[in-house]
Amino acid sequence: MRHLMSPLDFTREELEQLMDLADDIKNHPDKYSEKCHGKKLATCFYEPSTRTRLSFEAAMLNLGGSVLGFSSADSSSAAKGESVSDTIRVISSYADICAMRHPKEGAPLVASSRSLIPVINAGDGGHQHPTQTLTDLFTIRSLRGEIKDLTIGLCGDLKFGRTVHSLINALVRYPGIKFVLISPEELRVPEYIREDVLEKNGYEYKEVDTLDDVMGELDILYMTRVQRERFFNEEDYIRLKDFFILTPEKMNLAQKDMMVLHPLPRVNEIAVDVDDDPRAMYFTQAKYGVFIRMALILTLLEIPC
Ligand code: CP
Repeated sequence: MRHLMSPLDFTREELEQLMDLADDIKNHPDKYSEKCHGKKLATCFYEPSTRTRLSFEAAMLNLGGSVLGFSSADSSSAAKGESVSDTIRVISSYADICAMRHPKEGAPLVASSRSLIPVINAGDGGHQHPTQTLTDLFTIRSLRGEIKDLTIGLCGDLKFGRTVHSLINALVRYPGIKFVLISPEELRVPEYIREDVLEKNGYEYKEVDTLDDVMGELDILYMTRVQRERFFNEEDYIRLKDFFILTPEKMNLAQKDMMVLHPLPRVNEIAVDVDDDPRAMYFTQAKYGVFIRMALILTLLEIPC
């Protein structure tokens, strides 16, 4: 039995196979509409979510399976003090696979060690968000043809943004990727990612605190929101939340085929006017999340395709 805790749980070859399957699902959805007949997905979300939970549920329903679960800690027995270990042991007898989001780093990993069914990390604190990374890779590959020789700007809250941490971990497996890390000083990528992931693998990167100066270099701009829920005080959040706002004027500085991604939700780091720019791909990205999660469910349940 296999779980997904980090994008590193899959080799690059396995990531490509998963994306090939997602591609086939996107092009031939009817072929897959009964593949999970009789199977159940449990969504155990101890933290708010729109895209991840609902795209997992849509994915299982599209595969002919069914879903059960909870969408907040308050509506589960966690509110009475139940541990994730006990919860997963119980859910193992109600469902075939579980997607879990938790505010504590490592909670899905603890659950996976006690689980009798595959567990998917649907986001753990400021640590990792591997299925967002699968979505990001699949979007890049679908729109660019391949993941190779790209300059990628990661902009915003690079300290607490778990999607950025997971994405860097995955992208260092691909050739010719250059990283431009765009953030205020206080929200820089954690040292362990700079040293253990980027430097150890010999990847080229630079850290800057202005967007305008680097816009013209980028093939992809990956925007992120400032993660209010991970700040220790509101004052710091208010000071930093509007540090970067992507506007149509800034888009004029970018290449004609630059692609703007964002894991969403957006707060105000991308002006709504940018949505009409053909380079704004974040809603397409959210849609592609369903196809890759369908591929992931089929793979972890070892359903022949
Ligand atoms: N991208 C993402 O994780 O969105 P949600 O928080 O809405 O699931």
